[in-house]
Amino acid sequence: MSDILLKLESVHVNFPARKNWLGRVTEQVHALNGMDLQIRRGETLGIVGESGCGKSTLAQLLIGMLKPSAGACQRTRDAGGMQMVFQDPLSSLDPRLPVWRIITEPVWVQTRSSARERRRLAETLAQQVGIRPEYLDRLPHAFSGGQRQRIAIARALSSSPDIIVLDEPTSALDISVQAQILNLLVKLQQQRNLTYVLISHNVSVVRHMSDRVAVMYLGQIVELGQASQVLGQPRHPYTRLLLDSVPKTGEPLDDSLALRKTELPGNRHLPVGCYFRDRCPLAAQGCEAPQALQPAADGRTVRCWRNLS
Ligand SMILES: Nc1ncnc2c1ncn2[C@@H]1O[C@H](COP(=O)(O)OP(=O)(O)O)[C@@H](O)[C@H]1O
Ligand SMILES: [Mg+2]
Repeated sequence: MSDILLKLESVHVNFPARKNWLGRVTEQVHALNGMDLQIRRGETLGIVGESGCGKSTLAQLLIGMLKPSAGACQRTRDAGGMQMVFQDPLSSLDPRLPVWRIITEPVWVQTRSSARERRRLAETLAQQVGIRPEYLDRLPHAFSGGQRQRIAIARALSSSPDIIVLDEPTSALDISVQAQILNLLVKLQQQRNLTYVLISHNVSVVRHMSDRVAVMYLGQIVELGQASQVLGQPRHPYTRLLLDSVPKTGEPLDDSLALRKTELPGNRHLPVGCYFRDRCPLAAQGCEAPQALQPAADGRTVRCWRNLS
């Protein structure tokens, strides 16, 4: 069996931003700009970066909701099913369906099993995620945010996927509830040998959960490696700024104070050379050249010719 479940090779995703009166696209949003990535069985791969850097586009690409505009996104033969958990459980759960039907919807789509079987499955899953089985006839709005996210997780589990893509799974929740959901995800991963792609703008969440971390900037990975390397001794100037912006104690903030002073460059007209050049405190001669993701001595990859140590 292959250790690699999913492979991205120079994937680009563009969205039409403007059309002329003939309906022809005259301007595009460049959401992903050459993503190279492999997802390995059983790992938690954390994806971190500021709002707008392309994280949700990547999530949709991974689960097949979006096709690459260029490049390839391949699932290897040994990769089983894939499911997704979204940031806002209320808008991702059908408000008119009782919870047991929501949970087993992916199974219904795939196997058309009987209502009785699905009901039994919903009861088992509810128990595993900490929802009382006697509440399964209720509608989603009867539950708290944290409980709804548990329901969304049960739903993702119902078809026994190998990979779950988690797009900001705790960003809409109170801090105390966040920790409970993260712990539940860790427990389920151990029990079921799941592979997670955990997407978050929150460095603390990614640090807590991930084996490997990819840092994204303007639709590209700028640094990728073991979580302890990338978040412990960052080598890309952007990773450093991103980490500096997280308060040492207390709640992590959405965007950094350091980074907020400068604007994320538009993704309609991509910068020439290093994408981070205009915001980089270390920009120098040499940064006008396009930067490739290159291996560093310690095994990580960095998209910066200086490859700081
Ligand atoms: N369906 C879409 N149509 C047009 N632009 C989009 C669409 N989805 C995302 N974008 C744009 O692509 C960029 C990346 O967005 P997104 O992947 O949602 O980033 P993130 O999840 O990191 O905040 C943003 O500039 C966003 O406005
Ligand atoms: Mg997003």
